[in-house]
Amino acid sequence: MGRAASSLLWAVVPFLFVVSAWAEDPYIFFTWNVTYGTISPLGKPQQGILINGQFPGPNINSTTNNNVVVNVFNNLDEPFLITWNGIQQRKNCWMDGMPGTNCPIPPGKNFTYHFQVKDQIGSYFYFPSTSVHRAAGGFGGLRVNSRLLIPVPFDDPEDDYTVLIGDWYSYDFKTIKSTLDSGRPLTRPHGVLINGENHKVGEADDATRKPVFTMKPGKTYRYRICNVGLKNTLNFRIQGHPMKLVEMDGSHTVQNVYESLDIHVGQCFSVLVTADQPVKRYYMVASSRFTKYNLTSVGLIGYEGAPAEAPSTELPPSPVGWAWSLNQFRSFRWNLTASAARPNPQGSFHYGGINITRTIKLANTAGFLDGKLRYALNGVSYVEPTTPIKLAEYFGVADKVFKYDVIGDEPPADDKNIKLDTIVVNGTFRDFIEIVFENHEKGVQSFHLDGYSFFPVGMDTGTWTPTSRKNYNLLDAVSRHTIQVYPKSWTAILLTIDNAGLWNIRSNHLQRNYLGQQLYLSVLSPERSLRDEYNLPDLHPTCERRKNIKEKIEDKEGRNNNRGMRERQERQSKIVLDLDEALVCVERQDFSGLCIEAKLQWFVL
Ligand SMILES: *[C@@H]1O[C@H](CO)[C@@H](O)[C@H](O)[C@H]1NC(C)=O
Ligand SMILES: *[C@@H]1O[C@H](CO)[C@@H](O)[C@H](O)[C@H]1NC(C)=O
Ligand SMILES: *[C@@H]1O[C@H](CO)[C@@H](O)[C@H](O)[C@H]1NC(C)=O
Ligand SMILES: *[C@@H]1O[C@H](CO)[C@@H](O)[C@H](O)[C@H]1NC(C)=O
Ligand SMILES: *[C@@H]1O[C@H](CO)[C@@H](O)[C@H](O)[C@H]1NC(C)=O
Ligand SMILES: *[C@@H]1O[C@H](CO)[C@@H](O)[C@H](O)[C@H]1NC(C)=O
Ligand SMILES: *[C@@H]1O[C@H](CO)[C@@H](O)[C@H](O)[C@H]1NC(C)=O
Repeated sequence: MGRAASSLLWAVVPFLFVVSAWAEDPYIFFTWNVTYGTISPLGKPQQGILINGQFPGPNINSTTNNNVVVNVFNNLDEPFLITWNGIQQRKNCWMDGMPGTNCPIPPGKNFTYHFQVKDQIGSYFYFPSTSVHRAAGGFGGLRVNSRLLIPVPFDDPEDDYTVLIGDWYSYDFKTIKSTLDSGRPLTRPHGVLINGENHKVGEADDATRKPVFTMKPGKTYRYRICNVGLKNTLNFRIQGHPMKLVEMDGSHTVQNVYESLDIHVGQCFSVLVTADQPVKRYYMVASSRFTKYNLTSVGLIGYEGAPAEAPSTELPPSPVGWAWSLNQFRSFRWNLTASAARPNPQGSFHYGGINITRTIKLANTAGFLDGKLRYALNGVSYVEPTTPIKLAEYFGVADKVFKYDVIGDEPPADDKNIKLDTIVVNGTFRDFIEIVFENHEKGVQSFHLDGYSFFPVGMDTGTWTPTSRKNYNLLDAVSRHTIQVYPKSWTAILLTIDNAGLWNIRSNHLQRNYLGQQLYLSVLSPERSLRDEYNLPDLHPTCERRKNIKEKIEDKEGRNNNRGMRERQERQSKIVLDLDEALVCVERQDFSGLCIEAKLQWFVL
């Protein structure tokens, strides 16, 4: 082969490689404009958070292994982040969008999320992880379709509907935040929303209002129902239509039929519904569970060609008590023969035969600290450090920002005294761990783990003991990412922690989570190899943040000259100097010795 030909070959090979990678895993692009806007879901105007003018936000319709690219423009007056509930972000916690992994997107700036929905299928949602923003909106559905070649264990439905249900406050989110910041509990929620709307039974326009969903007689539809709420478990049901459960939290289930489903905060269920009833209008119902109060909303489902008549005002009853709910959980089974994208396929199939290397018990408590309400896990109430934990780890300055393992694997004997701290549990890469959530309190809990799916193998009343393992489901527990814990009860989950990164474990209840009931699990790969975890991507919000601060300082210098302001300016210009030094350190990739102090300044701002 001549010289020219061989160099041509070299030029062509990398190009082919790029093209085939592209062909294999397609990209889908979104540009999102996040703004405030007035919404009145409970009849009273309040400040909402809209995405491209919509509340709830747009649905993302993706397919397994797609590269999802979302350029988020933050046009709020506060820092903002979005997290993708249940998307595992393999090797890529940089895109998880939690305050522990990302600096938030400053007001007026944009940040592009780029993640792959690797080896996943099913129904998910996204929501804001900053402040209490999710009490104002910013959430929406995210579905991951199976690839064309992969058989799905049911026939293609006629259509595919996303139903976002959740409890809601008519307060502005800033009021909610200031209430919580001052250490006072929130009142009960004011209502329940179904896709951003609240309706009562028997409203005047029930015969004429456009139904939320339409079904053709005789056809079967997939409904993906997610509880995007703040606190309440909701029971979901449809008049006259039983639901065939086919998927939950990203796993195909054994297809049992249910009259109604209890959906805990943060969970998603897919059901098939066949339009085999008289051609008319029906209500779907979401109502609160385990509460003294009863919050209910209905939504209209209309058959095509139905006469303009209101649905019957008789609603299917809601179940009572939580024993019913526990039994329903026990009826859920993974479909072991359904072929689908699975996370870590080698390990997860026979999870029952793997030896547990570590057991972490997490007990939730509530209490007052200096007269202010706080929530804790194993006696410690989480506080967010100013430097994102993951960046501190990445740049080797973790010891300046937080201590690992401030909680033990056992709850303390006396967990009444709540302490404030940053909780980062040091997990050993590829350990097979057991987490036991112990709920000694009177309310139902819902816990979520980022970065993984896990097997909820046991759930019962009372106290967990090692003999509780005898009753674990070691065969076909449904692999999922969010699990409830009933009052005075426990739930045990098993998983392999083989996804290197920093992962949030949280109570999904807004008030609990915001006031400290969360922690991070740090899983570092011993080799620190790119095979296990990607590097910090370019254009991560840190860099933006630095520029933003500089701009603000320059703006102040131009406008203010009173004394207090001058002093502040002097302090600030020193920080600017440090920031510039820090940037040099970062550019030189020098993260040792003298650079550390400067670098810290860079983050801490
Ligand atoms: C976002 O929406 C706001 C308000 O509607 C508008 O002023 C702004 O130009 C939009 N920005 C982008 C990038 O579309
Ligand atoms: C979602 O994507 C799938 C697969 O590409 C497509 O068949 C379907 O029509 C899309 N649905 C919507 C609502 O865009
Ligand atoms: C912000 O948006 C612009 C224009 O779409 C884009 O070129 C840029 O990469 C984005 N910046 C970040 C940090 O994502
Ligand atoms: C499980 O999936 C298989 C394969 O797609 C399907 O044939 C079967 O009906 C499903 N089993 C149940 C019990 O849902
Ligand atoms: C709550 O109210 C709804 C609507 O009236 C009703 O269907 C449901 O059964 C009630 N739930 C309880 C627990 O009473
Ligand atoms: C699990 O532990 C038992 C007892 O320590 C041991 O005999 C067995 O080989 C282990 N199994 C695996 C799969 O490592
Ligand atoms: C975290 O765990 C790993 C693996 O068990 C260990 O090598 C490392 O020293 C631990 N780090 C800290 C800070 O405890």
